[in-house]
Amino acid sequence: MSVTVVETIAELRAALEGRTVALVPTMGALHDGHLALVNRAAELADTVVVSIFVNPLQFGPNEDLDKYPRTLADDLVKLDAAGVEFVFAPSVDEMYPTGPSQTRVTAGQVGTLFEGRSRPGHFDGMLTVVAKLLGIVRPASVLFGQKDAQQVFLVQRMVADLDVATSVEVVPTVREQNGLALSSRNRYLDEREKRAALALSTALEAAQSSGDRGIDAVLAAAQSVLMGENLVRLDYLSVVNPATFLPVDDDYRGRARVLIAARVGETRLIDNELIHLGG
Ligand code: PAJ
Repeated sequence: MSVTVVETIAELRAALEGRTVALVPTMGALHDGHLALVNRAAELADTVVVSIFVNPLQFGPNEDLDKYPRTLADDLVKLDAAGVEFVFAPSVDEMYPTGPSQTRVTAGQVGTLFEGRSRPGHFDGMLTVVAKLLGIVRPASVLFGQKDAQQVFLVQRMVADLDVATSVEVVPTVREQNGLALSSRNRYLDEREKRAALALSTALEAAQSSGDRGIDAVLAAAQSVLMGENLVRLDYLSVVNPATFLPVDDDYRGRARVLIAARVGETRLIDNELIHLGG
């Protein structure tokens, strides 16, 4: 294997001295969605760094921090095959040597909606670790997946608000052939749940094809797909303005993003798609 695994901040900084870097932050349990980010990163910079860190700060007390899949050996095989030069895999102590950091990046109003409403503190924890990773690696570009649309929005805003000298690159959602968005949490699903989980992407397709008939038709189309699957319990379904990430008004026309979060069995899944609201 030629990928180099670095566990400390000091060693990583020394190894990256003078290089132009593209950073792909991850929590591991890598799949083809992550690898799409890695491949795009290789187009943007000579040196690709993938961080693998399951960040305790972004998990709530009743969430899956302990059972979140940790598959470092498999991840390294995939990253090596993808030609990645450095993997940064710090311990929790290395990242938070004095315990959970006192200084936090706060996500503001949008951070309290949708994922932030279901997962209080999640986005502050996520932005704080992303800010730390950007400070450690100082990448010319940093890559995120559109799969986590609210995360992308908040990272872009943090980078703008705090004048971080990096370019945020967004990679389209990678899906299975049947439409299911790839996610590390899909491995919690059994076969029956996996079939039921297709309701999310099918609902988004239904929403997309109803865009011309306006917001009510979009919501009704998506809802009827989701209601048709009794293993699926909807958490939220919303249509937001991509510029503000706030719900669109009834008279809004133009590009909008449909957001879905649902539990399939015990597993919480999210997905989203861009639609055009006309009519
Ligand atoms: P994680 O869930 O491991 O995701 C890492 C990156 O992969 C994120 O930018 C995510 O949007 C992207 N990704 C996941 N599934 C994808 C798919 N199907 N298609 C395209 N991209 C996909 O998101 C996190 O980790 C963490 O919050 C992190 C940013 C690393 C901070 O801890």
